[in-house]
Amino acid sequence: MTKAEKRERPLGVFDSGIGGLTVAKAIKAHLPQEQLVYFGDTAHLPYGDKSTAAIQAYAVKICHLLLKQNCKIILIACNSASAAAYELVREYVGSKAHVLNVIDPVVAHVAQQFAGRTVGLIGTKQTVHSNVYKKKIEDLDCGVQLKSLATPLLAPMIEEGFFNNTISESVIQTYLSDPALDGIEALILGCTHYPLIKEQIKAFYQDKVAVLDASELVARHVGQVLTQLDMAAERLLGEPHFYVSDYTASFEASTQLFFQKKVHLEHYPLWE
Ligand code: DGL
Repeated sequence: MTKAEKRERPLGVFDSGIGGLTVAKAIKAHLPQEQLVYFGDTAHLPYGDKSTAAIQAYAVKICHLLLKQNCKIILIACNSASAAAYELVREYVGSKAHVLNVIDPVVAHVAQQFAGRTVGLIGTKQTVHSNVYKKKIEDLDCGVQLKSLATPLLAPMIEEGFFNNTISESVIQTYLSDPALDGIEALILGCTHYPLIKEQIKAFYQDKVAVLDASELVARHVGQVLTQLDMAAERLLGEPHFYVSDYTASFEASTQLFFQKKVHLEHYPLWE
């Protein structure tokens, strides 16, 4: 394969549902010449309540498809899958593509910007109970004290289209008032669904707590990796391609909302 052909390979992104679209949208804005292949594993959503073994099995199946699509990068645009399956996926993919997760860029940012301070984390049960953020932050020895809270209702609530209404407001308020998050100076949105409720979270804290949205940080990180690998596309070769493991009208409506046009969803069941 020539260098030019390598650069023209698409970028694969996956999540359990619409959460990864927050990252895909940031990538599209930051790297408009990159062609995206997106997989939403709507048949198995939410990932946050699944076992590590189940998420690993889904992730490997999805990567098999993304490799068949010749992706140069596979971005696990889901914190739960990044926590449960990143190492395994890297082994599975080997040298066929470069695997990235959504946790490392955020941890690097926190270590730089909030050293010696108290930082909160909200995410799914899988993400929070895996302690992956805590371990990675401790490895950087930056004196950040991490206070975490699992907020399992948020992703399904958002997936159902409940954001910016009174129901989401009351769920968010209840979670964020939990004493587990007392005294934090910044809050990591440790789930790719949460940028969709970022404004409500910011309103709760009335700008007294920095709300850290990973999508921008991850998009910039993808750009840096592409440059380092000399793999950045020079021209856009095609529209984004969307796969779902189960067709849902709400996913289609969300993709249209994100990309401002009608999108075609290809149904690709992971298991026949
Ligand atoms: N968006 C995913 C995450 O970042 C998972 C939400 C879910 O399916 O539970 O963790």
